[in-house]
Amino acid sequence: MSPSPEASPQAQVVVLDTGGQYCHLIARKIRELGVYSEIRPSETPASELRGVRGIVISGGPASVYESGAPQVDPAIFSLGCPVLGLCYGHQTIAWHLGGEVQRGDRGEYGLAWLETLRPSPLFGGAEGRQQIWMSHRDAVTRVPAGFEVLGSTDTCAIAAMGDPARRIYGLQFHPEVVHTANGRRILANFLFRICGCTQDWDPRRQAERIQDGIRRTAAGRNVFFFVSGGVDSTVAFTLCLRALGPERVRALYVDTGLMRAGETEFVRNVFDSLGRGVFAVEDASARFLSALDGVRDPEQKRRIIGELFVDVQEQILASGHYLEGEWILGQGTIYPDTIESGGTAKADVIKTHHNRVSGIQRLIAENRIVEPLHSLYKDEVRELGRELGLPEELLERHPFPGPGLAIRCLCEESGKPVERLGDGWLAPLHSVGVQGDSRSYRPVLILDAAPEAPDLHERAVERINRLSEINRVIVALASHVPVESMTTSPAALCRTRLDRLRRADAIVREAAHRWGFECQVWQFPVILVPLGTPERPDSVVLRPVDSVDGMTARAVPLPDALREELSARLLAEDGICAVFLDLTHKPPGTIEWE
Ligand code: XMP
Repeated sequence: MSPSPEASPQAQVVVLDTGGQYCHLIARKIRELGVYSEIRPSETPASELRGVRGIVISGGPASVYESGAPQVDPAIFSLGCPVLGLCYGHQTIAWHLGGEVQRGDRGEYGLAWLETLRPSPLFGGAEGRQQIWMSHRDAVTRVPAGFEVLGSTDTCAIAAMGDPARRIYGLQFHPEVVHTANGRRILANFLFRICGCTQDWDPRRQAERIQDGIRRTAAGRNVFFFVSGGVDSTVAFTLCLRALGPERVRALYVDTGLMRAGETEFVRNVFDSLGRGVFAVEDASARFLSALDGVRDPEQKRRIIGELFVDVQEQILASGHYLEGEWILGQGTIYPDTIESGGTAKADVIKTHHNRVSGIQRLIAENRIVEPLHSLYKDEVRELGRELGLPEELLERHPFPGPGLAIRCLCEESGKPVERLGDGWLAPLHSVGVQGDSRSYRPVLILDAAPEAPDLHERAVERINRLSEINRVIVALASHVPVESMTTSPAALCRTRLDRLRRADAIVREAAHRWGFECQVWQFPVILVPLGTPERPDSVVLRPVDSVDGMTARAVPLPDALREELSARLLAEDGICAVFLDLTHKPPGTIEWE
């Protein structure tokens, strides 16, 4: 439940979530068209949906005829408001209204060509043959009474159907993804031509409404925030500051000692410029570093950091030290974090613990939490932040994981040499990956190739598909010694290695920014790995990736000039033996190495 429901507008369109990864994308696309939309569980009773102008049933991984498949309340079809089913939603409509759904001989995944068969308001301005995006195995094989087939592909006879009298429509394809050429037009037709929605939503115009909500929720009390320097907590804080004034809000930043170079100063500058005296730092770095000293296992690192963070928060909340008088806690929680849905918010240690801290649970129960961004998506938070005048440098920051540099400082139990494997070397460096739906922890292949070879990424994909013992492929950009003479060393987390990584990361950030490369990638982790020689025991791996939400990612090549500068500067650092580039997409590699 949202802690400040009075601050949300009324949704014109509700997206019923059947567990698909596209559910949030649908709601976001509808909002981009200027119509406020929210997600509800698929089984929401029709009585709770009275008054909405339209209902969308999302796609999902289940089969309608299996027991336990997500259900919708059949009464939604008699509410009199238009309904649009997408993929599983399309099949759900057929299933409920007397049509037929069958398992296809083979699935249809990816691009396909739709041919529209008759005029329909849904396809106004989008008639004829057009590119669409499909991802399904089951298919509607007979439309319900009253429906007509609106479009087909070569392999899917009923790719679009509609009952114009009841205004119920189904699409087997996904209009919400960019690969569907007329997707935006089709959604707009549903909203404006069929549902009669009005444009009522612009994230840039939400500040006043949200500030009113904050004043109501605070009801005379003060607001205290834990801030991270990320976009969400900073925008949420700024709204509270505007709503309540600098006397009534405080921001506390916990320094874990696992931050990047200059991070604490950056965050301090941002907050000092927002309001004098609103910001404080709690230096917990000694506690974190001593708890992590000597730790090697990735999961253990995460556990220690998560638990310690919770401890520190609890102590601060219990001490009542930072705010006198009556106060409530502000949080930068955004919309996807408040909705449980397949394929959304990846559980991350620090965030999960943030929400689970018993002190915070208690505050929620006592109605002492304000979450000003609880109905916004990330892009909307950025737009609002821009409107509030926050610096672009802050709004466009790359995401940075809560556990910080600890998960970019790879550790190993033992020292072993690299071994020849086909046309590369197997390095006994274990990193985390995702293969299928599960986590892998496997060694890395170093490709024997020149860093300027044009087909590096293709070769990496080929190797990774062929060699089941690895989950990642890298290439050496520069090194002090030949790759074949390198060995791993038993290495744990320690201050020396964290400092080494922090320096390397600072060099990469500075150069990537200066060359204009930073804004061409979604994230650019720098990883320290214990591979080298006794004199120079570590190496640096560069991991520039492009992504939309971090769930999948594409490894990106480095421009020649940047590659040369980084190779030279990083090799000049104390203890660094080589510089590598990670060529692995996600999946099968994760973005972080852990
Ligand atoms: P992976 O490594 O799973 O990372 O491909 C996907 C995205 O999530 C970020 N990440 C985190 N963010 N707390 C966070 O706030 C965490 O514990 C955490 N772990 C990974 C990662 O940086 C990437 O953007």
